[in-house]
Amino acid sequence: MLFMCHQKVMKKEAEEKLKAEELRRARAAAEIPIIWILGGPGCGKGTQCAKIVEKYGFTHLSSGDLLRNEVASGSDKGRQLQAVMASGGLVSNDEVLSLLNDAITRAKGSSKGFLIDGYPREKNQGIEFELRVAPADLALYFECSEDTMVQRIMARAAASSVKRDDDNEKTIRARLLTFRQNTNAILECYEPKTLTINAERDVDDIFLEVVQAIDCVLKKKQQNAAQC
Ligand code: AP5
Ligand code: MG
Repeated sequence: MLFMCHQKVMKKEAEEKLKAEELRRARAAAEIPIIWILGGPGCGKGTQCAKIVEKYGFTHLSSGDLLRNEVASGSDKGRQLQAVMASGGLVSNDEVLSLLNDAITRAKGSSKGFLIDGYPREKNQGIEFELRVAPADLALYFECSEDTMVQRIMARAAASSVKRDDDNEKTIRARLLTFRQNTNAILECYEPKTLTINAERDVDDIFLEVVQAIDCVLKKKQQNAAQC
């Protein structure tokens, strides 16, 4: 009799522990923001992400960097990816999303938030991300003229000791075309969670607006977590 009582108490304790852990996870998931960083080639996505990481300690996942890492590995898959990137087109979403998903899974336990830089690049990428990974809290769209974007990329290429394969005039034109063909549909689809930011300004002025938007998301997240 005493033994059965003891077992019941142990079972109850285990159930309570499980509930507490589930609650902790639900809170953590509700608190961690996911932010998409959108904009054409050279608009300043990477530059703003570096500043966000410095201020908020978020995990920066650039789809372009993840793909370039794969190319640098010298694998057969990397060679195929390189060909698509050199053409200025889009790599298949299966490839990009699985690289992103793996990176998110690896960082999940310790991350304060995710910046998904250069994703989605077409509407279906966004839809699949939200189905397979998690809903995005905010999309920051850095709006910039094509002339400015070309100038910025050319300046970056001239200043850098390691030039990117796709930073040449022909590929830049193709990247711009890909961007032009897909962006309106993304902005229409995600209009309620998108903030368009004029990226033709000084880096720090742009960042002030970025900070306001992120602070707003963090505040909402904290309120939601408190209700869990
Ligand atoms: P990716 O690597 O994402 O390249 P991108 O979108 O073309 O953009 P960049 O990285 O060139 O520019 P950025 O916006 O980060 O600007 P940055 O901060 O460096 O993608 C490469 C390729 O991978 C794609 O073409 C595609 O093939 C493939 N790919 C990637 N994602 C994919 C996806 N989701 N699906 C399928 N395929 C995918 O700034 C540029 C320069 O400007 C720097 O020198 C910077 O110092 C300067 N600068 C920045 N801001 C300012 C400012 N406000 N004023 C003055 N100068 C500034
Ligand atoms: Mg970049």
